[in-house]
Amino acid sequence: MSTTAFETLARLLDERWTCRQFLPDEVPRADVERLLTLAQRTPSWCNTQPWRVEVTRGEATARLRAAYAEHVMAHPQEPDFAFPAAYTGVQQQRRRECGFQLYDSVGIAKEDGERRLEQMLRNFEFFDAPHVAVVTTEEELGTYGAIDCGLWVNAFLLGAQALGIAAAPQAALAGYPSLLREHLGLPEYRKVVVGISFGYADLDHPVNGFRTSRADLDDVVTWHDA
Ligand SMILES: Cc1cc2nc3c(=O)[nH]c(=O)nc-3n(C[C@H](O)[C@H](O)[C@H](O)COP(=O)(O)O)c2cc1C
Repeated sequence: MSTTAFETLARLLDERWTCRQFLPDEVPRADVERLLTLAQRTPSWCNTQPWRVEVTRGEATARLRAAYAEHVMAHPQEPDFAFPAAYTGVQQQRRRECGFQLYDSVGIAKEDGERRLEQMLRNFEFFDAPHVAVVTTEEELGTYGAIDCGLWVNAFLLGAQALGIAAAPQAALAGYPSLLREHLGLPEYRKVVVGISFGYADLDHPVNGFRTSRADLDDVVTWHDA
């Protein structure tokens, strides 16, 4: 039976998920290059391709992890692109649902603030991933530069899924851009959009055992036919 391109793409989208526990094994450099080469095909405003990506492995990942460990609890979040101001209505519901799924998967009770904090802090350990990709854009390109980077992130995530590489896009990492600027030698005009931890999934870990839902078409599409 032949598989159409649509079916292949649908399967990658259906099967991709945010991995929150990685194995220590590194991804061979050649596979990371293949993935990055694929993501380069991402469209962007006037083909500006504003993304730049810092990719870590080995000691570089360990040093960045240590830098976050020292920094996070002692400093406020100061993202280059404002984090959501509020979650209301259906967004609030969806956010709660995926949050509860996450905490349920690892047996954390809703009211257990301490363990929720611990789980949140796993972000800054990159969920033990051996690699992090930090995605930045140029300040002067504004919101659309960030949008272009978002498209790049999706291409990266789907390409990773196709190669058997697991990934976690993490706004949490973008909450501390000064740390990233200093640590990775980024100029002030490069603005941090997001970080992506990646590697191979620990499929035996319960945190990787849940899958999130998506709204029905009727909830998101308004047809204007006449
Ligand atoms: C831009 C962006 C930022 C995200 N930031 C985080 C994060 O900081 N920590 C985290 O655990 N997950 C983060 N996620 C993952 C989302 O929670 C996840 O994509 C969503 O719940 C849907 O689940 P799925 O990716 O498993 O399909 C982020 C996703 C995106 C696209």
